[in-house]
Amino acid sequence: MTSTTLKGQPLDRPILDSMLRRRMFYTPSFEIYGGVAGLFDYGPPGCALLANIVDLWRKHFILEEDMLEVDCTALTPAEVLKTSGHVDKFADWMCKDPKNGEILRADHFVEEVLGARLKGDKEARGLKVEEKEEDAKKKKKKSKTTEAVKLDDAVVQEYEEILAKIDNYNGEELGQLIKKYELKNPNTGVEPSPPVAFNLMFQTAIGPSSNAPSYLRPETAQGQFLNFAKLLEFNQHQMPFASASIGKSFRNEISPRAGLLRVREFLMAEIEHYVDPEGGKRHARFDEVKDIEVVLLNRHTQLAGQTTVEKVAIGKAVANGTVDNETLGYFLARIQLFLQKIGIDQSKLRFRQHMANEMAHYAADCWDAELLTSYGWVECVGCADRSAYDLTVHAKKTGAPLIVREKLEKPLAIEEWQIDLDKKKFGPYFKKDGKTVETAVEALPQDKREALAQALQADGKITIDVEGVGNGKVEISKDLIVIERRTRVEHTREFTPNVVEPSFGLGRILYALIEHNYWTRGTEGGDEARGVLSFPPPVAPTKVLLVPLSSNESFKPLLKHMSHKLRILGVSSRVDDSSASIGKRYSRNDELGTPLGITIDFQSVKDSTFTLRDRDSTKQVRADEDTILAAIKALTEGTKVWSDVEKELPAFESQDAEVPVR
Ligand code: ATP
Ligand code: GLY
Repeated sequence: MTSTTLKGQPLDRPILDSMLRRRMFYTPSFEIYGGVAGLFDYGPPGCALLANIVDLWRKHFILEEDMLEVDCTALTPAEVLKTSGHVDKFADWMCKDPKNGEILRADHFVEEVLGARLKGDKEARGLKVEEKEEDAKKKKKKSKTTEAVKLDDAVVQEYEEILAKIDNYNGEELGQLIKKYELKNPNTGVEPSPPVAFNLMFQTAIGPSSNAPSYLRPETAQGQFLNFAKLLEFNQHQMPFASASIGKSFRNEISPRAGLLRVREFLMAEIEHYVDPEGGKRHARFDEVKDIEVVLLNRHTQLAGQTTVEKVAIGKAVANGTVDNETLGYFLARIQLFLQKIGIDQSKLRFRQHMANEMAHYAADCWDAELLTSYGWVECVGCADRSAYDLTVHAKKTGAPLIVREKLEKPLAIEEWQIDLDKKKFGPYFKKDGKTVETAVEALPQDKREALAQALQADGKITIDVEGVGNGKVEISKDLIVIERRTRVEHTREFTPNVVEPSFGLGRILYALIEHNYWTRGTEGGDEARGVLSFPPPVAPTKVLLVPLSSNESFKPLLKHMSHKLRILGVSSRVDDSSASIGKRYSRNDELGTPLGITIDFQSVKDSTFTLRDRDSTKQVRADEDTILAAIKALTEGTKVWSDVEKELPAFESQDAEVPVR
């Protein structure tokens, strides 16, 4: 799939980038000091767009499903992230170029060099090659990466298979690929060093003494897990339930190069949905989404070296086991609905399943919502089944009961082997080892207890393994211990919930949204093409542009009046009363994605009617103030679209000439 604009034009990323910077959607941080890779500041339209995405996210997920929102600190003690596994395992593979010291992310390096060889092969075969911006720059620098060299068909297939499963290789395997295919850094022509693991967390210290090491969180999830018991209580012990959090996360990415797509500080929105692992992780609202069709790229296809997708109803994908369970399937469908709502192009969305090696250390199954951009397919939402991993490790480490106790409707009679120790004799007999032996006895599993009961009866004593006591074997005689089969009645059931986690990177979504809604409009009279961002009105940074026909004084009170009215409605607006032509003023705001425009003309002064212009079609309607305001409200809340308004209100063909009011 090639990267095209909303109207099918080839996407010219340098032009889009320069428009986004010029209009200050976002800008490199610390730019006048030379900037820092992977750090960006958002400007006014970027902030408004992000805030609107967050607002819709809150409504779509938190409000719709009564989720419990928390806002936890980003500074996290090392102990927490050691327990969660991040200190040991949250790493990417990194290589170094021995000639110029350049640091390369190993998987991206392999991808880049093999990708360039495949491109060179296509060129040599005279096939059409889509050129990415980076490649064009490299060509200018006479890089060796895109030389037109024909490859054997078998080699092409081998490379394609490697690229299809690039995320599944570990460091050693990436090192082997670099050696086997003699992959050289295009900037120096030298083979980089073997990959080593690089932990992505930023380390710091809390307080003036450096003995409280800590990290900036790499995900918002851990804070939610640590509050699990309190949230369960807040929820009156009702299961299932979900917590949610929106906040910054930090990752010391190895070589961030793709603008907002790979940054070192980014806004995440994460949901931790807690579900009973028994009963197949069903979801009470699955029926509502089961017929929604999703595009899936499963792990078996990728492992076979292919990227073929299938479009299937989520109900079917869960029924045939492609997607593991209803809860995971429910969230994949809900993620798709959210992305659709904010204006993501559905033909540029797919869900890709993680391969076994690619999965994070905590995950049991994982699907990424990937969006197609000019940088290729990019993971924007991860949806992982984290099983009981996190709650279990934190409970084990701290002793906190991160479990659910459920009252059983019918008490449960359990037949089991029970052990009684004669504590009065046991302690004095084993002296300092008493506690250790007691713990080992209590930990004996049911299947062993049965055999030990028989041994105790036959021999009058048993021998068990106890680490750290004597030679590791301890004999216990029958005057110290009784092992009997008895019935225990349970009134409650205890379990550690499993967690299904949709995790959104909002900056990546924002960037993909921009690309998916961008197109250029050729202007009449040979002017250069103008950029348009066709955001759906609910997400657009500014909703309404107010333009007076001219600088005539009679328009000023009306401008003030309409700004005030829109403010009361909670609709953001901007006034452009510059001397540029109306057309220019509108097209400047098309670049900002402003969906609606109100023109104040002499007729408005006479009878309080206004024209309302649609950004995408440039069509206008005319009506009285209240009707226009009601239409704006419906459009910006998403309850109507322009075609509804166009049917309801009279069209307006041309703006009145500048005739002064009498
Ligand atoms: P990648 O493989 O691209 O590095 P990841 O697998 O590490 O991503 P996750 O750990 O699943 O990503 O993070 C959850 C979400 O956070 C991602 O879907 C993405 O939207 C966002 N995200 C992760 N890393 C970054 C980053 N460096 N910059 C911007 N967003 C990010
Ligand atoms: N919390 C999901 C992730 O960081 O990948």
